[in-house]
Amino acid sequence: MTSDTRQGARPLGLDNLRKSFSTGAMAVDGVSMRIEAGEFFSLLGPSGCGKTTTLRMIAGFEMPDSGSIMLGDENITPLPPERRDMGMVFQNYALFPHRTIAENVAFGLRMRKVPKDEITRRVREAMAMVRLTGFEDRRPGQLSGGQQQRVALARAIVINPTVLLCDEPLGALDKKLRQQMQFELKALHRRLGLTMVYVTHDQEEALTMSDRIAVMQAGKIAQAGVPRDIYDRPVSRFVADFIGDTNILDGTAQNGSLELEGGWRTLLPIGTPDGKLSCALRPERVLLVEPGTGLTNAMVEETNFLGDSVLLKLQLPGGGSLICRAPRSASGLTAGETVGVTWAGDDLVPLAD
Ligand SMILES: Nc1ncnc2c1ncn2[C@@H]1O[C@H](COP(=O)(O)OP(=O)(O)O)[C@@H](O)[C@H]1O
Ligand SMILES: [Mg+2]
Repeated sequence: MTSDTRQGARPLGLDNLRKSFSTGAMAVDGVSMRIEAGEFFSLLGPSGCGKTTTLRMIAGFEMPDSGSIMLGDENITPLPPERRDMGMVFQNYALFPHRTIAENVAFGLRMRKVPKDEITRRVREAMAMVRLTGFEDRRPGQLSGGQQQRVALARAIVINPTVLLCDEPLGALDKKLRQQMQFELKALHRRLGLTMVYVTHDQEEALTMSDRIAVMQAGKIAQAGVPRDIYDRPVSRFVADFIGDTNILDGTAQNGSLELEGGWRTLLPIGTPDGKLSCALRPERVLLVEPGTGLTNAMVEETNFLGDSVLLKLQLPGGGSLICRAPRSASGLTAGETVGVTWAGDDLVPLAD
């Protein structure tokens, strides 16, 4: 079998995947998704929402209770991992501690019975790709965390997979190294042209790296879309809260306005039906104006200087609070001062729940 040769670009289809463990509730509860060939696709969500289980089912390490996984027209659900044409990078690296780096990287090729000369050549290429040339004879314990993660990456790409699966690969790295590795991973993804399924609980990482994101909540996909839409148009309180800072305004929609406690109102996006409604509003959409000239007045409760901007906590007339990210020119404001606030009707995002 020549499973080590690239089988061409094929979309990955997940159809109603379900998985439960004997210990409790459904870990994955009906996940359906089409991931395009060559796409950088992220599964994003809090700990325990089913990201790893979904990824392990795609890889073949876990059998779904029901549902299927398609690669192009082929149903790969029953295939073992080594016949799926996929590489996987595990969260804890999972390197063999007593083998050299070169042996670690060669592992998948040995499993696939690739000839020795070719193994040597491909290991050299993969090591160069992750900038680890010269480390061949060391053992994992002699490398830093970031270098070990590169070894895990080299081991995954050496088999020339169509799909690369990454489970929180940068989770253990400090912030600077993580940002550097994010750039490198993106570059590698572009260069190799493979499909990436990337698991993370870090919303910023998902927003900057992905073509598309699926936000998971309790085994289900809460929302899937391009990063902009996930950020600007969250469908639920959960997604709005999980992706970045957000304000939630609770009120009653009537004739195109949201009526709020404290007796003030704000325009809603056109077509919003009447009734009880919660809306998300990003802090950077809240504009400060002269008192008396905005939608309402608010009292400054706290100011946090962030360097490039100022984060203000404001008290609203109804007793609620509002977070505002203002330009640094607002850093002169002090607690107790009154400001006016305003925003555009389209900045309010009606939430389904
Ligand atoms: N091997 C397992 N045995 C029992 N329960 C598991 C196992 N793997 C995962 N779970 C449970 O399934 C749920 C989803 O886990 P997981 O997919 O690891 O979430 P995530 O990767 O998003 O943190 C959790 O409640 C977890 O405790
Ligand atoms: Mg996990």
